[in-house]
Amino acid sequence: LSAPKIKAPRGTFDVLGEQASARTALESRARGILEPAGYERIETPAFESTELFARGVGASSDIVRKEMFSFQDAGGRELTLRPEGTAPICRAYVEHGMHKRRQPVKLWYLSSFFRHERAQAGRHRQFWQVGAEAFGSEDPALDAESIVLASTLLSTLGVRQVRLRLSSLGSPESRGAYRESLTAYLHANEGSLSEEVRERIDLNPLRAFDSEHPGTRAVMQAAPRLLDHLDEQDASHFTEVRSLLEAAGVSYEVDPTLVRGLDYYTRTVFEFTSDALGAQSGVGGGGRYDRLVEELGGPPTPGIGWAAGVERILLAGEVPAAAAAPVELFVALEDGSPAARAEAFGLLAQARGAGLSAQMDLVGRALKRQLSHADSIGARYVAIVGDSRTVLKDMQQRQEEPMAIDAVVHAVLRGQHAL
Ligand code: HAM
Repeated sequence: LSAPKIKAPRGTFDVLGEQASARTALESRARGILEPAGYERIETPAFESTELFARGVGASSDIVRKEMFSFQDAGGRELTLRPEGTAPICRAYVEHGMHKRRQPVKLWYLSSFFRHERAQAGRHRQFWQVGAEAFGSEDPALDAESIVLASTLLSTLGVRQVRLRLSSLGSPESRGAYRESLTAYLHANEGSLSEEVRERIDLNPLRAFDSEHPGTRAVMQAAPRLLDHLDEQDASHFTEVRSLLEAAGVSYEVDPTLVRGLDYYTRTVFEFTSDALGAQSGVGGGGRYDRLVEELGGPPTPGIGWAAGVERILLAGEVPAAAAAPVELFVALEDGSPAARAEAFGLLAQARGAGLSAQMDLVGRALKRQLSHADSIGARYVAIVGDSRTVLKDMQQRQEEPMAIDAVVHAVLRGQHAL
């Protein structure tokens, strides 16, 4: 009787073979775009105090209301597997006094995140994001730069049918008056709204724009739009972001109904969708969060950033798998004498020490099978080690030459060089 099998938890997946090398390629493209623009890599812990997300992401967001993997550790601390990266990076910015550095401070990440969502294609419970955050400047040029970098990354990775939607949420002050008029409008039309929206009228009325519910959608058609209620400074900030995007040749649509699922945004918000993706069409999104650092106990510090879903990029993009390293030397055993085997093993170590990619039969195949294996993995040279002699075979030229085992590495290096 065999033991019962254990499967990966629902909504999680293993990364194997070609997927692993596509991810490596994605990471190196992201680094190649972000680091020359002044972004430094950051890593934060996979779990944080639950309070960080409750305060940072916001009590009215779906994430905090129902999607967090929260637990108590053995010491009674309330912890949560990170559902997103912005709040943790703001925490790190404050914790390490990064406001004392030259601003803007620019950070990028490629990490896994956790949300307890209903799993489906492109939606997982553990997923990866590549993201970038920049702190310490309100300049609309920083917004535009951030958006241009996201757009460049998606196009470099061949993500198909990408659309960029853009809006501004204004500052919390200018939003106050608008919020009142929207709340009043929603209450006046309460009868046609979905229960979920009705419950959140006073908590977060803007989320009504996000609803799929037909009645709610009809009501929202005629709802007052935040974009028409921006104060002068917010409006001119938005105009400047738009004109810089145009200068950079990035096309976008202004979508006054764009609301993001996280509560920390101020002013610029944006979302990239791909029509190649189906239901879960969001490939990436972000915006400004000018109050978040302060809300997390730091000095008043504006910030802007975005994150894009790695799995969705891989679904909608054309990320070439990084090519497998060629095998330069395969060490084969002519027969199984322990002495020859030890010598062969020594040769393997010597070859690797010299920087060659080298492999050896480790499952006890007969010589003929070892040679066909070497052929199938594309080995350039094969050293056949016997009790009395060693032969080096050039698999491309179909030539072979007996030599002292100590001479093999040098011969392969010389041969490689000649190529
Ligand atoms: P978000 O829109 O929640 O933003 O997530 C960004 C991207 O992560 C989405 O567009 C999607 O591609 C991917 N994603 C989200 N949830 C899942 C999931 N369950 N499975 C697979 N992919 C998923 C944020 O997280 C913000 N922190 C972005 C940001 C950075 N804003 C400012 N700075």
